[in-house]
Amino acid sequence: MAFTIAIDGPAAAGKGTLSRAVADHFGYAHLDTGLLYRAVGKRMLDGVEPIEAARALMAGDLSDDGLRSPEVAQAASKVAVIPEVRAALLDFQRAFARRDGGAVLDGRDIGTVICPEAEAKIFVTASAEVRARRRFEELLGNGTETDFDTVLAETRERDERDATRADAPLRPAADAVILDTSALDVGAAVAAAIAAVDALRQGMSAG
Ligand code: CDP
Repeated sequence: MAFTIAIDGPAAAGKGTLSRAVADHFGYAHLDTGLLYRAVGKRMLDGVEPIEAARALMAGDLSDDGLRSPEVAQAASKVAVIPEVRAALLDFQRAFARRDGGAVLDGRDIGTVICPEAEAKIFVTASAEVRARRRFEELLGNGTETDFDTVLAETRERDERDATRADAPLRPAADAVILDTSALDVGAAVAAAIAAVDALRQGMSAG
């Protein structure tokens, strides 16, 4: 049986950590859709035309270690405004969302465009400062040289581009549960997300 959990939100909101934990808890498969756009962004930085890169994308391209860099994040949000790039990545994401056994997808447009029929939709957010602080610490941890103000500026720039694009802009679905993690640690955020999904599952079995 298909059961889709859509987890959307702005840059560095903690969607990845949260989605993996929620997927583990329910025994569902997980897809970080940001990796698709990052892989296309990275190919663009290597000189490949982005629409061609999106059409030629293969599963193995998603496990490239270089996809987490700030340069690739910016390139990802640039290729993500191109409708043909988004269209090329649609079928794969839709099929993943409705696979048997349940799926968790995290991104920007999962609850609005990829899988509006998702049984559970969570929009994860936090203040720009908190998100930039978390991303800054993550980057320091993997040895990237940067400073907090740069990370904050890049986070805001990406949010602005993602939220104002014409095709599939970042926004919560009308029926999404909003989860603000500004004051929550990882454990509390995961518990809140699981509780939100459980409440929706109970509502479904009652109704
Ligand atoms: O991890 P972080 O939140 O920083 O970014 P990401 O989820 O890896 O996404 C990188 C970029 O891909 C975003 O800034 C978006 O422009 C784009 N993206 C998108 O347009 N739609 C998605 N479903 C996922 C990512």
